[in-house]
Amino acid sequence: MDLEQIRREYLAGGLRRKNLKSDPFEQFQDWLALALRSNIPDPTAMTLATVDGAGQPSQRIVLLKHSDNKGLVFYTNYESQKGRDIVGNSNVSLHFPWHGIERQVLIKGTAEKVTQAESEQYFATRPRESQIAAWASPQSRELPTRQALLNRYQEKEIEFDDKKVRLPDFWGGYRVVPDYFEFWQGGAHRLHDRFRYTRAGLSWQIVRLAP
Ligand SMILES: Cc1cc2nc3c(=O)[nH]c(=O)nc-3n(C[C@H](O)[C@H](O)[C@H](O)COP(=O)(O)O)c2cc1C
Repeated sequence: MDLEQIRREYLAGGLRRKNLKSDPFEQFQDWLALALRSNIPDPTAMTLATVDGAGQPSQRIVLLKHSDNKGLVFYTNYESQKGRDIVGNSNVSLHFPWHGIERQVLIKGTAEKVTQAESEQYFATRPRESQIAAWASPQSRELPTRQALLNRYQEKEIEFDDKKVRLPDFWGGYRVVPDYFEFWQGGAHRLHDRFRYTRAGLSWQIVRLAP
């Protein structure tokens, strides 16, 4: 397999300073809207990086469920590896790998739990099977067998019977509050466009970065 020969040019379009919004949240919403329209797979999938107590980073994909100028929200098990990392170090990074439109967005910030009401509202929209699975899966913990997981699922199914599945106390949302955004647009000859936004008081400073 000759991986060295796998390459392509990025020709979809350029990014100019004059076309950028002064507010990175607005810039992000614009790009997200385009990604959603573009038929690329899983446009709301983002890689979340966290760091554990020993300084070891980990990454995994989570789904963006809400975004506004307060931050970007995803839902998970608070007792998972990522949840435990965030308790010790709330600094996180998000990455959207939008290959299909030759763009990527990098975000750095801090993660905080959303309110119980927000989590309850979102949990209620999930299919019942996913709600039961949230109860059944001790996310990131060791399992002896797959059957052990299926047994836990069945127990929870019986427990909830025909009752409403309530929000587990170990499950809910995190809001990533960004203090750093980078918007990357692929360019010809590897001369890509990159712009970094960092907080400067109440506004944002925008700087072009070398590709
Ligand atoms: C496309 C995709 C979407 C995912 N979305 C979520 C999600 O929204 N929340 C979540 O907890 N895990 C999600 N996962 C599973 C995570 O990637 C990960 O395996 C899990 O959260 C455990 O991570 P941890 O052990 O690092 O905490 C998703 C995986 C994929 C491939």
